[in-house]
Amino acid sequence: MSTNELSRVALAMVAPGKGILAADESTGTIEKRFKSISVENLEENRRAYRDMLFSTRGLSQHISGVILYDETLRQKSADGTPFAELLAKNGILPGIKVDAGAKDMAFCPGEKITEGLDGLAKRCAEYVKLGAKFAKWRAVITIGKDAPSAACINANAHALARYAAICQAAGLVPIVEPEVLMDGDHDIDRCEQVTEWTLRAVFAALANQRVVYEDMVLKPSMVISGKDCAKQAGVQEVAERTLRCLKRTVPAAVPGIAFLSGGQSDELATAHLDAMNKIGGAPWRLTFSYGRALQHPSLTAWKGRETNLAAAQIALAHRARMNGLATAGRYSAELEKERGKAA
Ligand code: 13P
Repeated sequence: MSTNELSRVALAMVAPGKGILAADESTGTIEKRFKSISVENLEENRRAYRDMLFSTRGLSQHISGVILYDETLRQKSADGTPFAELLAKNGILPGIKVDAGAKDMAFCPGEKITEGLDGLAKRCAEYVKLGAKFAKWRAVITIGKDAPSAACINANAHALARYAAICQAAGLVPIVEPEVLMDGDHDIDRCEQVTEWTLRAVFAALANQRVVYEDMVLKPSMVISGKDCAKQAGVQEVAERTLRCLKRTVPAAVPGIAFLSGGQSDELATAHLDAMNKIGGAPWRLTFSYGRALQHPSLTAWKGRETNLAAAQIALAHRARMNGLATAGRYSAELEKERGKAA
């Protein structure tokens, strides 16, 4: 793809009213999700679950793209249509997670470095053939007593930038995802400080690797209080601080920012995005790329049973619609309650 095509895809990923469904859980991560509904982690169950999600009627109204895992990109819908083809037919861009996971980082206790650069160009070429239009790489930054370290931030920023350059050269739009974890009892000040440090390092590395800002999407975490912090910041404060931090660090040439949910509850993740868009005035589109916060109600409704398919799809369509509204700052508690009516 030429840079024009890449920038067209990047803009489509963050199109008004739409966001991204992250359904790229590795086999190990989906096992955790399946355990919560007592479903065995078998290839056929993983396929059936993703089939349920992807064949939700009208999904493309609020979902611009879906991030897949390697196995899923090679799987097919019940009628034999490859998932990538099914999504594309329905006007949804298929994407692929290309990192090999966050591993313990040497000499940095408690910190992680994401692996997967070796052989990445070759894998990207195959993913393009399989129909992928964009890619994702997640870096993890941990907040702790002596963390994050400069070593961890810089190594992860460098890896993200190398990944992004390789993807763009191969014809895939990179989703650059530096996630500052919400685990811990740190306050929102500390989260803001670490997020700002991380984003500065990431954009310095992206510039250094000649990554084209117009042809990428940023997927950051929001600036929020640590999960175990006694004082939890409210929705407005999270929105204001997240916007302030992003304005300080993210070039306006980046077309869009699609947040991860990172363990926030479904409705809070929607409310935070909505509050940012209600404030308005940002130079980039602000949308979602949620995994848990989009899938959770659907997963719990599904429980691995064919008979629950319709209820599970209604639950997904509802969350997608609520988040779609949040991209325009048009979400409200009243609309949230309309789930029954949507059925
Ligand atoms: P969550 O929204 O569940 O954090 O998942 C998004 C994602 O893709 C993490 O890499």
